[in-house]
Amino acid sequence: MLAEATAIEVTPQTSGFGAEVRGLDLSRPLPPEILDQVKAAWARHAVLAFPDQPLTLEQLEAFTLQIGPFGKDPFIKPMPGHPNVLELRREPDEKATNFGAGWHSDWSFQPQPPAATLLRSEVVPPVGGDTLFCDCTRACEALSPTMQAMLAPLRAVHSAGRAYGTKGVFARETEKRTMQIIVSEEADETLAHPLVRTHPVTGRKSLFVSPVYTVGIEGLTPKESQAVLGFLFAHMVQDEFVYRHRWRPAMLLMWDNRCTMHLAEGGYDGHLRVMHRTTVAGDTPV
Ligand code: SIN
Repeated sequence: MLAEATAIEVTPQTSGFGAEVRGLDLSRPLPPEILDQVKAAWARHAVLAFPDQPLTLEQLEAFTLQIGPFGKDPFIKPMPGHPNVLELRREPDEKATNFGAGWHSDWSFQPQPPAATLLRSEVVPPVGGDTLFCDCTRACEALSPTMQAMLAPLRAVHSAGRAYGTKGVFARETEKRTMQIIVSEEADETLAHPLVRTHPVTGRKSLFVSPVYTVGIEGLTPKESQAVLGFLFAHMVQDEFVYRHRWRPAMLLMWDNRCTMHLAEGGYDGHLRVMHRTTVAGDTPV
């Protein structure tokens, strides 16, 4: 049965991007005109929060498929019986750094990185556990025209190696981790994308680099790459471009990896945090 065609209520966050969406029951298929409104709000605000969505895993999968086909999630063992759902779980006694603790755009090292990530809160800790988002579009637009022109032809090199590679953070980890990470030589491969990409829906330009997955810039020496990327990372994570998402239980968040990067903040040692995550396939960045 289709969900009732109520109007969607979109309340922009005060941070300058992101919005909260009410008036929907995502446990049932959305009527096409409502789905179009959701997609339009997503393109406009980049990070949509849907409070009060007590979804089963099957309902999360079904809503994801209304947005688009599943993306490919490498290097992490999915949930049993749900090959497209990751459980981001950290037990109260875990001391290892929380998953997603560095700024990144999901799987940006893939030839076609996911357009969307959907993350639903199952268990929210009483302290900490926020997710921070950077608006890579406004960060790009705030650069001088001269800097924008300098960056426009550049291609940034991405790799999963620092995280999932044979010498990466997870390979060297000794602390207990509940999530099953698959360290792999494949993670050490590199791939270049435009450093500034154009959003296929809005046509706006965004910086498409992140400290976790961007390892260089084609044609520049390592020192030159480091200088340019270091400047960009510091520029992007200024308060004016960042939205801090505070979770409540049963909240679904859907973000656009094409024009944002994010970081899971941690700060909840001694408490359980459980989230369920899917991705939606994307295009080759241009
Ligand atoms: C991630 O997907 O990078 C983790 C986000 C989070 O757990 O808040």
